[in-house]
Amino acid sequence: MSNPSVLGWPTFHHAKLTPRTAPLGTVAKPLPLIIDSDPGLDDALAIACAVVRPEINLLAVTSVGGNADVHHCTENALRLLHLYGADDVPVAEGAVGPLTGPLERATEVHGEGGLGNTKLPKAPRTVEPEGAVALMARLLEASPEPVAIAPVGPLTNIALLIRSYPHLSPKISHICLMGGSVGEGNSSASAEFNIYADPTAAEIVFNSGLPITMIGLDVTHHATLDRSILDRLKTLPGASAKTAAELLKFSFDRSAAWGQGEKMAIHDAVAVLHFAIPDLVGVARYHVVVDATQGPARGRTIGDANPYRLKRDKLEPNCDVGLTIDSQRFADIMVDIYSKLP
Ligand code: BDR
Ligand code: CA
Repeated sequence: MSNPSVLGWPTFHHAKLTPRTAPLGTVAKPLPLIIDSDPGLDDALAIACAVVRPEINLLAVTSVGGNADVHHCTENALRLLHLYGADDVPVAEGAVGPLTGPLERATEVHGEGGLGNTKLPKAPRTVEPEGAVALMARLLEASPEPVAIAPVGPLTNIALLIRSYPHLSPKISHICLMGGSVGEGNSSASAEFNIYADPTAAEIVFNSGLPITMIGLDVTHHATLDRSILDRLKTLPGASAKTAAELLKFSFDRSAAWGQGEKMAIHDAVAVLHFAIPDLVGVARYHVVVDATQGPARGRTIGDANPYRLKRDKLEPNCDVGLTIDSQRFADIMVDIYSKLP
């Protein structure tokens, strides 16, 4: 029982926190990173983290249909990078929808265009014509060292990358994905949105043998901000901080209208920050499988850390699962990020 944040779970086995397996960037040796994203309110904050943190060398942002239609997500990625003063980062558009199953959107959470009611100025940079998967492949091929990936939307592009360019898998150092949950879901009681939106792709990724960290709802529901963050952001001079305040206010208002409280989980930022900060997220090793059936648990990530069962079934853990985070420290980090943006 080493993990106080999950003691409330209706489970009899409490996974022990274990050392992380994800690589860490440092100021001296920033980690090359690709973000695959469906911006998205919390995606906007995740991209800000990657732009600011000196431990990360952001190589590209690729888009995927998820929170909103993919063309909105692509445009949002371009405009957010422009706002953050990062026009040098290429953006390419990826999959419209999942490998199998219906198109899922979260526009009721993120607004029709993905960024609430916020309209950002157009970016001078335009989208790379080759598409998300080809851009990722080109960057992996060209990189002298393996590249990390932070998928923070449905896993469609990542599954396509793994299946289309298997020879490049050794060039992927780690996949730290926001998605899934060992406990309760959000799209359904079983499933978290990013996995629910493309369970077949998620199954390919979890079965790939690549090193994975699953930053799921178990940890991201503790990576929250409340309305007090708005006052802190207001003291900052940049347009980026003003935009963050606007995006967050949209979330707080929507959540309050739904009677869901006033705290917002900034899910996607946690997956990016895990590559930059050694002790922010506590993890445990789990064997995770994805339910890609059509049943009521479609999109569920079933995580097992019970040593008896794993041994009995001859299963090895296939990923780190994020379980703990200090909410206050997380909020302070987010303010610090926006204090460093234009
Ligand atoms: C995930 O779903 C999306 O709506 C968010 O951007 C995040 O990636 C949380 O379930
Ligand atoms: Ca997202």
